[in-house]
Amino acid sequence: MDVLKKEVIFVGGKGGVGKSTSAAAIALRSANEGFRTLLVSTDPAHNIGDIFGKKLTGGVSPITDRLSALEIDPERETELYIGTVKANLKDVVHAGTMDEVNRQLDTAKASPGADEAALFDKLVTILLEEKANFDRIVFDTAPTGHTIRLLTLPELMGVWISGLLEKRKKTNENYSALLNDGEPVEDPIYDVLRERQSRFSRVRDIMLDNKKTGFIFVLNPERLPILETDKAVELLGKYGLDVKTLIVNKVLPDEADGEFLKERRRHEQRYLAEIDRVFGEREIIRVPLFPRDITTLDDLDAFSKHFKAGGRNESIRI
Ligand SMILES: Nc1ncnc2c1ncn2[C@@H]1O[C@H](COP(=O)(O)OP(=O)(O)OP(=O)(O)O)[C@@H](O)[C@H]1O
Ligand SMILES: [Mg+2]
Repeated sequence: MDVLKKEVIFVGGKGGVGKSTSAAAIALRSANEGFRTLLVSTDPAHNIGDIFGKKLTGGVSPITDRLSALEIDPERETELYIGTVKANLKDVVHAGTMDEVNRQLDTAKASPGADEAALFDKLVTILLEEKANFDRIVFDTAPTGHTIRLLTLPELMGVWISGLLEKRKKTNENYSALLNDGEPVEDPIYDVLRERQSRFSRVRDIMLDNKKTGFIFVLNPERLPILETDKAVELLGKYGLDVKTLIVNKVLPDEADGEFLKERRRHEQRYLAEIDRVFGEREIIRVPLFPRDITTLDDLDAFSKHFKAGGRNESIRI
């Protein structure tokens, strides 16, 4: 599985298909191979802590020798984010208006989109700064819609900020020409925006660099996950984000026998064939349904043993 060698790996997919389990198994395997690995959950309904039986508290926490985990806490990040915005504005806004600005920002904290902006900001910080402490970062994401939004934000925010900068530049030029004898004006807001633009564009470069970054979608051999994955892969493709690998999780293993399961397997074969047809040129990894939930490091290890290409037409055993 080539994608496992990337420095940054995003794991996406429909709700409940096994994203967190796959991301945890990928991260654990990476750590066991000797790479300092950080597993990050961007899903507000976290469960990485549960998988490792550890309470994670919003910071980077060690799990094994080389594996650390981080559950991004949207509330805490929003708090921090608004704090930075306040600090940035303090130098540029008149002291008298700062109280009003603070009040506005406190309201903004509760507004729709604030969590998303904060989460995105954290993603940027992880990719640009935290990355220095790790060889590999694996992102466990929230169900599809949320993740597509998050992954396409660098492009959207880039366009938005360019627009703001353009406007600001025009205003400044007019100001220089009319009131400042043609001398350029100092504009700290312009500088802050410029800095953000540069950060977003660096993140975009990382995400678009398919030598560095890989996208994996997890699905189950069932009708709706196939349809949803197809749409998601196409949409991300439009943003230049190439999902090269699919993990087909919870495939009935050969060990499962009996009339009922035989029937079920026949049904499943249709969907497996459908997946091969729809996602033909992508790498497709099949992982069996285990008899129990995946809850221990040994379980994750067993899970990750199936991360090999070319098993598509072989029968699958646990
Ligand atoms: N191959 C498997 N065999 C048996 N159980 C599995 C397998 N893969 C995942 N599970 C179990 O299925 C449940 C859902 O898995 P997981 O939490 O990884 O899904 P998810 O896609 O992250 O869900 P969510 O969308 O809620 O974040 C968990 O209880 C997990 O232990
Ligand atoms: Mg999950």
